Amino acid sequence: MTPELDDLFEFLRFPSVSTDPARRDDVRACAGWLMAKLTGMGLATELHETPGHPVVVARNDHEAGRRTVMIYGHYDVQPVDPPELWTSPPFEPELRDGRIWARGSTDNKGQMLAHILGVEKTLREEGSLPVNLIFLFEGEEEIGSPNLAPFLEARRDELACDVIAISDTGMVAPGVPTLGYGLRGITCLEMILRGPARDLHSGVFGGAVANPATAIAKLVAGLHDADGRVLVDGFYDDVRELEPWEREMWAKVPGAAERDFLDVTGSPALFGEPGFTAAERVWARPTLEVNGIGGGYQGEGSKTVLPAEAFAKISCRLVPDQDPKDILAKLERHLGVCTPPGVTLEIRPGHDGKPYAADPHSPLGKAAQRALREAFGSEPVLIREGGSIPIVQDFRDILGVDTLLLGLALADAQIHSPDENFTVENFEAGIRMNQALLRELARD
Ligand code: BES
Ligand code: MN
Repeated sequence: MTPELDDLFEFLRFPSVSTDPARRDDVRACAGWLMAKLTGMGLATELHETPGHPVVVARNDHEAGRRTVMIYGHYDVQPVDPPELWTSPPFEPELRDGRIWARGSTDNKGQMLAHILGVEKTLREEGSLPVNLIFLFEGEEEIGSPNLAPFLEARRDELACDVIAISDTGMVAPGVPTLGYGLRGITCLEMILRGPARDLHSGVFGGAVANPATAIAKLVAGLHDADGRVLVDGFYDDVRELEPWEREMWAKVPGAAERDFLDVTGSPALFGEPGFTAAERVWARPTLEVNGIGGGYQGEGSKTVLPAEAFAKISCRLVPDQDPKDILAKLERHLGVCTPPGVTLEIRPGHDGKPYAADPHSPLGKAAQRALREAFGSEPVLIREGGSIPIVQDFRDILGVDTLLLGLALADAQIHSPDENFTVENFEAGIRMNQALLRELARD
């Protein structure tokens, strides 16, 4: 065990599950650990309270005339469910087969700690950093960052910077440095269809009243056509076309061929919008997914019941220039019009976030590419991401700066799933990458 891995293991032992009220103190304790680590490195470190989990900000001594770089990360993690599917306990990190196994190992503690340790190493080796640095770490990314945009608004001046760097996205294949320049946005909702006042005997009443489970199945089935295109009126109105260079580049990206999607997902076949490759469908096209659906008897055996209600949880992934509020309104209208007879519809809107895309060929994008080349010794690929980090477009709207996404999450890192893991190789590469990045961003 190296001192770097010792640090990571300590960080990973905090069960900082932001969505779980029972973990509130653990999330705070994790922020406390970060505070101690950053203070110990000689950075000026502050813990900021929010209505939810705390934000941690740390900075070196800023000097006039240097570039100011913000590095963002999140110290909260997803729940571990289902716990029985983990090979080793999620908050007792283990080193096996060259990987660190724990919840948060890739998403995002391992990737963000690599940045911290890169800075620590540079400070040890050089005595100072080549840039003005701001570390911004939050504990609510996995619940949609509800308190971070107001925090940015309130502290716009203190947080002023020239560029933001984040390692919280994908790396297309081991050893292939990956610069992300886009993220999908998101809008979530839950819908509930209600029929009879209580669950009924399906023989005594079935046939005379509508069944909410049947109705929700119909409503959900009507959201896509047979090819998987979304049928909500106006859904594609504001979708920005893919650029020819993107299609050309993505066709050659290692790890993003149709075969790779089949292998990594374990699905029997690919399916989706005609006219687009799997990578294009995920990185540059909007989607509507059912995240959960239910109603009626779910136990062993049979129960002849006509359920009183049924639900579905839905999220849309959005691309530039779709607007989450506009899509939500279109979806609500569609669901209202298409609700089958005999039931009532309730819609509960959830969290949302805007899509993001930047130019990876900008001067700072090129600096990031140089840093990746240096850290990995090979040519970086440029991709957009299927996942979302909603605060990234807020960074642009509020602070006026673009974000560089230097992802280290491999396709088999199992983020959000049991047996999440991070390769020691990427952890070490992340430390090198941070050092190269600050050096390159300091140049003109
Ligand atoms: N790190 C992920 C996002 C991600 C993962 C982007 C892999 C690209 C590749 C992030 O922590 C995440 O899971 N975000 C949520 C956001 C949501 C809760 C608002 C997501 O994408 O579902
Ligand atoms: Mn995540």
